[in-house]
Amino acid sequence: MTRRRRIYEGKAKVLFEGPEPGTLVQYFKDDASAFNNQKKGVITGKGVLNNRISEYLMSRLSEIGVPTHFVRRLNMREQLVREVEIIPIEVVVRNVAAGSLSKRFGIPEGTPLPRSIIEYYYKSDELNDPMVSEEHITAFGWAAPADLDDMVALSLRVNDYLSGLFLGNGLRLVDFKLEFGRLWENDEMRIVLADEISPDNCRLWDVKTNEKLDKDRFRQDLGKVEEAYQEVARRLGILPEGGPSDVKGPKTLQ
Ligand SMILES: Nc1ncnc2c1ncn2[C@@H]1O[C@H](COP(=O)(O)OP(=O)(O)OP(=O)(O)O)[C@@H](O)[C@H]1O
Ligand SMILES: [Mg+2]
Repeated sequence: MTRRRRIYEGKAKVLFEGPEPGTLVQYFKDDASAFNNQKKGVITGKGVLNNRISEYLMSRLSEIGVPTHFVRRLNMREQLVREVEIIPIEVVVRNVAAGSLSKRFGIPEGTPLPRSIIEYYYKSDELNDPMVSEEHITAFGWAAPADLDDMVALSLRVNDYLSGLFLGNGLRLVDFKLEFGRLWENDEMRIVLADEISPDNCRLWDVKTNEKLDKDRFRQDLGKVEEAYQEVARRLGILPEGGPSDVKGPKTLQ
């Protein structure tokens, strides 16, 4: 892990230079943060689980034709991805009221929304990731109108597909956040899904009990945080071989 050039260290992941030009290695940490880094902690085994969960979900999405940055998982905590030019917008898709939407509009958490709602946030730690409109995004040049159209179309496809996939495993996809990037191939540019899809950036509730199985357990000090991430992996049928002990074990390669 230390031989490669470190390109960026974020709150949840580290990016290293990849083995070939145009590639990066994403290393998943156990560090957790919430409320724009005001709350920090460690969720033991989270990095291993998110690496697996994101690999699984990105691979399934790729199979249905959603372009992603994911190439392959390298080991327990690392995956190889295509380097993209990240569009500085977080796309949030909501199916059920929760979190900041419930707070802002006074809609009780758990209220189904009349239709899926898309929100955009400008990625800026200094500004606290402010919510922005399509007008802001295109006027300030963060994304061209055609790029934004692609991002919306892809987000809705991801929502449809993942809602069904999770429901089939007894989980409700309440909402989630996506990041996109520009991938250049020769002179052609494509918008692809980047970053990660995991319980760090999805709200997932048990369909029968409404139990929260995502980062809200950390945000709200609900306890059993590691167990919730493990449960999501188990439901998807991808808990690392050997069960939970593997998750906490020392750095195992491959
Ligand atoms: N394929 C990719 N190419 C380039 N950058 C990527 C790619 N996928 C994800 N990233 C970026 O890598 C970083 C991942 O680290 P992490 O999720 O820990 O960041 P973060 O602390 O959430 O910070 P940020 O506010 O930058 O998202 C993010 O900045 C993300 O936008
Ligand atoms: Mg992030």
